[in-house]
Amino acid sequence: MVMNMKKTKAPLDWKNLSFEYNKTDCNIRYYWKDGKWSDGELVTDESVPLHMAAPCLHYGQEAFEGLKAFETKDGRAVVFRPVENSRRLQRSCERIFIPLISDEIFLDAVRRVVDANWKYLPPYGTGASMYIRPLVIGTGARVGLGPASEYLFVMFATPVGPYYKGGFKPVKALIVEEFDRAAPQGVGDCKVGGNYAAGLSGAQFGKDRGYPVVLYLDSREKRYIDEFSTSNFIAIRGNTYITPKSNSILPSITNDSLSVIARDLGMEVERRQVEASELASFDEVGAVGTAAVITPVNHIRFRERDYTFGDGENAGPAITRLYERLTRIQTGDYEDAHRWLYEVK
Ligand SMILES: Cc1ncc(COP(=O)(O)O)c(C=O)c1O
Repeated sequence: MVMNMKKTKAPLDWKNLSFEYNKTDCNIRYYWKDGKWSDGELVTDESVPLHMAAPCLHYGQEAFEGLKAFETKDGRAVVFRPVENSRRLQRSCERIFIPLISDEIFLDAVRRVVDANWKYLPPYGTGASMYIRPLVIGTGARVGLGPASEYLFVMFATPVGPYYKGGFKPVKALIVEEFDRAAPQGVGDCKVGGNYAAGLSGAQFGKDRGYPVVLYLDSREKRYIDEFSTSNFIAIRGNTYITPKSNSILPSITNDSLSVIARDLGMEVERRQVEASELASFDEVGAVGTAAVITPVNHIRFRERDYTFGDGENAGPAITRLYERLTRIQTGDYEDAHRWLYEVK
């Protein structure tokens, strides 16, 4: 009998994986030189050789993405909305002068990197998933400020557990006004490395005060809610799903998907400027993103005041319904009516 190699899994403790890098067999690389991208090449090397004068090292000419693959009950590998990540990477690249990576190249990378690391795709029902991290960097030597002459596009995949310990359990957040994450006309709406380096101080500021999550207001007026450091903000008021509209937040694919699901569930959806002064009127709050999925936020501290959402202990009913519907779609347990799953065959 021929064994199906794809079904043989690596001996990992799937239910206790953290959201960290876990070694897999290979990653895929494409090089941009002389005006075009190379054909991708699967490599086992986990390190990237770089010239010390590469612009990604000095000037942060770097963009990245994050998406997930899941195993379905019948053993298929499905990736959640990869074309959306490809389009967002294209927008990030355009903003910082990195040559376009076509959807075709992006999907080729997704397909090949998942297929080559199939044994690390967490088994259905474990709550773990395969996190896929595409990144593109400006390489080649250059000292003066300007775009690189060469680029490297890498995609790796790694099995991960929930982003916050405990998974779908409420967390406390702090609104940080001491640091800004993104400037009004900066790159807050792009997934580029510099945003995240700029967010480290704010994140540490929150952690030092006992808040695992920090929330930013708009940098210009400190009046409107922008987003959390690694996820979008959503609030539920009555039967309405409310999420900020802002030029300096990352357009989250999870948020977009949840807005569609909210409508499917008969909710109203409002995407508009959200005043921080509205906090007291919200029934439920969540942090949404690929890594966080929806993390319920039960407390927010803002200007010496504490705001509590739901019963303060458990995830509220609307966020629970949204979470369940999204995660069931992602693992193929609910009809994929919006055609969000991309199967790797
Ligand atoms: C700053 C920021 N906001 C929001 C998100 C959520 O976006 P997505 O749902 O596409 O993962 C992320 C994660 O990618 C992020 O880094």
